[in-house]
Amino acid sequence: MNPAAVAPTSPTSRIDQLIARLQTARSRSDDLFKIVLPAALYDRPVPERHRIIFYLGHLEAFDWNLLREPLGLSSFDPEFDKLFAFGIDPVEGGLPTDQPKDWPTAGKVRKYNERLDAELDAAIRSAVATDKGFATLGLGQLLEVAIEHRLMHAETLSYMLHQLPLDRKITQPDAPPPSAPQMGARCVEIPAGTATLGIHRSEGGPFGWDNEFEENRVDVPAFAMDIYNVTNRDYLRFMREGGYERRNLWTDPGWEWIHSQEHAYPSFWVPCGDSWRYRTMFSEISMPLDWPVYVSHDEASAYTRWAGKELPSEAEWHRAACGTRSGGERAYPWGAESPVAGRHGNFDFERWDPVAVGLYPEGKSDFGVADLLGNGWEWTRTPFAPFPGFQAFSFYPGYSANFFDGKHFVMKGGSSRTAACMLRRSFRNWFQPHYPYVYAAFRCVEH
Ligand SMILES: [Fe+2]
Repeated sequence: MNPAAVAPTSPTSRIDQLIARLQTARSRSDDLFKIVLPAALYDRPVPERHRIIFYLGHLEAFDWNLLREPLGLSSFDPEFDKLFAFGIDPVEGGLPTDQPKDWPTAGKVRKYNERLDAELDAAIRSAVATDKGFATLGLGQLLEVAIEHRLMHAETLSYMLHQLPLDRKITQPDAPPPSAPQMGARCVEIPAGTATLGIHRSEGGPFGWDNEFEENRVDVPAFAMDIYNVTNRDYLRFMREGGYERRNLWTDPGWEWIHSQEHAYPSFWVPCGDSWRYRTMFSEISMPLDWPVYVSHDEASAYTRWAGKELPSEAEWHRAACGTRSGGERAYPWGAESPVAGRHGNFDFERWDPVAVGLYPEGKSDFGVADLLGNGWEWTRTPFAPFPGFQAFSFYPGYSANFFDGKHFVMKGGSSRTAACMLRRSFRNWFQPHYPYVYAAFRCVEH
């Protein structure tokens, strides 16, 4: 269900819907921790991130730190509130050095979570019952933040658990992938036109994170865009032509990164003699040549230089996704209908892994561009920056502003593990250019 499509009939019913969505989001994150063997809870599958145990406490501590004061609650464990407050994203290569013994036991963290959820839920219900919640406390917006924060972690935790060795997790069922379709033309001309980025700020309007405001319109000159994401097959050609050895294809930091990390192929690939295999969430398989390749921004940019093309800008991506031939704009590539997983694309936790490109013709944009939402985020060449009229949330000032440093790039779209509510047109994601664990694909443009 797309929450944006639910028209609130009264403040109370909207709060009821939000409470129900928070419960659903909690089960989504609880399910994810169930795939981790107890012995692996203190592992650190990604060197730049905290150990898994941090995330077990973080999702609850975040909600608590956000909602405790407005709801008039008192802290019962200030040490945990602080310990689990924030994740990390080191940009200068400084990696965390903490040890498993520095963290509390999983039992203690779970107890903290249980008490916290019980206190929060009772306070939310009581605030709603006394009619304080919606207007006075701004509870609606805070609950949206709590829900989407948790759903975002449900995705980023998947990236992290993807890197956990297969014998450290418990395999979950996954539907067999549909067979690859016949692909037609590979490129389409997008005529010059306007792209509307962001959303308009209005009292009682739809929820958006601080970086989605204010709405702004951009004139986009004509360009040509790949209809499909670059696949593992395409990327293999780049590899075979020495893509990682050709200095002129890489930026200075990108070149330094691949050499300092000895990073010479996508993180999801596994070398196997003269060829390659692929690591999915729960197994190792023959290379799925028709799946989109998942790579860092540096690698995607090197590929586009090799191909004599570019990554799209954020505005070009919008234009190709939501613009129409008649000069209008749509809410989603296919129109106004809320996203339906399995019909419009591979998203909303329906699968653990990508599928072949071009499998969802009903999800195409008016210009015929495929797979814009789902099956992998898409890198743009646009550095993450505020829109005109940006205002940080007073209750979470660093959410976006801490990343307006020219060292992060905008991603649009979504992956198989992106919740449907975050497929809205204005949603923006961002990562560092040399973080290779994201479910991030790309496509090329030409001018
Ligand atoms: Fe977080």
